[in-house]
Amino acid sequence: MIVMNDSVKRRRGARTCAALWLGMTLTAVTSVAQGQLPDGPGKNTTKKVCGQCHSAEVVVGKGKTKEEWGQTVGEMASFGAEGTEEEFDEIVDYLAKNFPKSAASNKIKINVNKATAKDLEPALELSTKEAQAIVQYREQNGAFKSLEELKKVPGLDAKKVEAKKERLIF
Ligand code: HEC
Repeated sequence: MIVMNDSVKRRRGARTCAALWLGMTLTAVTSVAQGQLPDGPGKNTTKKVCGQCHSAEVVVGKGKTKEEWGQTVGEMASFGAEGTEEEFDEIVDYLAKNFPKSAASNKIKINVNKATAKDLEPALELSTKEAQAIVQYREQNGAFKSLEELKKVPGLDAKKVEAKKERLIF
């Protein structure tokens, strides 16, 4: 679902301006492009609509929530990306499915003894309360030494940290 309000629709009319500006930014965008779009419903639409200005592969390696992809696609529409509402919806679904937030954040390691609750929350897919509980426990009991110790934090779902154990640094 993309929210395209009136101002976005109106801005889509401002092609000339966007086109001028595009000339300047395109080189930078295409040079980032690498990799290939995975197969799946929506791939062809994404190639068609998102390949008009830069390579459609710019999305590869990025990870966003469905909402964030909706925002990106809405932004591209305001730059002048052409497609029907259905096509834009299809693209957002395709991107959210193939380039989810967790895929990008899976690569980053996180130090459970140094990270703030704000960083722990999205990185380990915890609730705000759970992330705060980790920090509180650490402040009261000193640095965590192992995963086992981390799992004992009251109010924390041990399964969630177990699932991310590859990414944890103590
Ligand atoms: C009308 C031209 C145009 C079309 C069509 C277009 N884009 Fe873009 N796109 C741009 C421009 C210009 C930039 C650079 C803007 C910037 O760096 O903020 C960009 C940058 C991006 C970036 C990198 C910056 C970011 O926000 O992560 C992504 C990802 C992206 N586009 C995705 C898409 C997707 C998905 C589509 C298809 C729905 C699409 N683009 C279609 C013009 C376009």
